[in-house]
Amino acid sequence: MSQETRIRRTTVPQIAARKGGEPIVSLTSYHAHTAAIVDRHADFILVGDSLGMVMHGMETTVGVPLELMIMHGRAVVRGTKKALIVVDMPFGTYEESPNMAFRNAAKVMKETGCGAVKLEGGARMAETIRFLTERGIPVMAHTGLTPQSSHVMGGFKTQGRNEETWASHIDDARAVAEAGAFAVVLEGMVEPLAAKITKDIAIPTIGIGASVECDGQILVLEDMLGLNPWTPKFVKVYGQLGPMIEQAVEAYAADVRTRAFPTEDEVYR
Ligand code: KIV
Repeated sequence: MSQETRIRRTTVPQIAARKGGEPIVSLTSYHAHTAAIVDRHADFILVGDSLGMVMHGMETTVGVPLELMIMHGRAVVRGTKKALIVVDMPFGTYEESPNMAFRNAAKVMKETGCGAVKLEGGARMAETIRFLTERGIPVMAHTGLTPQSSHVMGGFKTQGRNEETWASHIDDARAVAEAGAFAVVLEGMVEPLAAKITKDIAIPTIGIGASVECDGQILVLEDMLGLNPWTPKFVKVYGQLGPMIEQAVEAYAADVRTRAFPTEDEVYR
């Protein structure tokens, strides 16, 4: 038997148990090598359908196909050892019925090896969340600003600015928690509403543009690395990889043009 100590991945119950405790750290990743770096620091990694916009230049996440999520999900699982891997269910693969959601979520779990799936929607998705969790598929829910519904919402708008809408956001969060979701992403939500929901429900809330009041935080990796041409206002940028790549490519191009490459002796010595 191998003497190597086996590193165990963070489990769904371990994330659920962090409610009200040490803040949960998470980031998106779509790529084996960056996921390996994130894995050393994050509790869970989300293979978000934002990959359609970030990796593939789409305008919204609506056009992301299931096969693309599976391909990137597999890469992230391969590149990691420790974090729980959650894969997003893309638009049109789960909303129609619990049966359809089960079929596609089971495919995602079997073909990627991920530990859970995420889907968007509150009360309207509660029946499906219950159906999946009762059949062995852990579900992270996602309410507030739900990008897959951006056409209905009229864009990517912060939710809860009008206090009259709070009741329906609170109902959504309660419904997914009661249906068995192990955590819920609150996206683009005013702070007092996020705080109220976080106090009100028994599962961890993971904020993105939803204030420090949540039980954990998630950001799109490329946003916090300064790699995206446009970054939402709420994102703190921790690195400037865009300008670094530009500089490196410029230096490479100059070397090629001036034939300033390593000599054969240097390369093959
Ligand atoms: O797709 C995604 O990256 C997400 C996060 C923004 C939470 O859903």
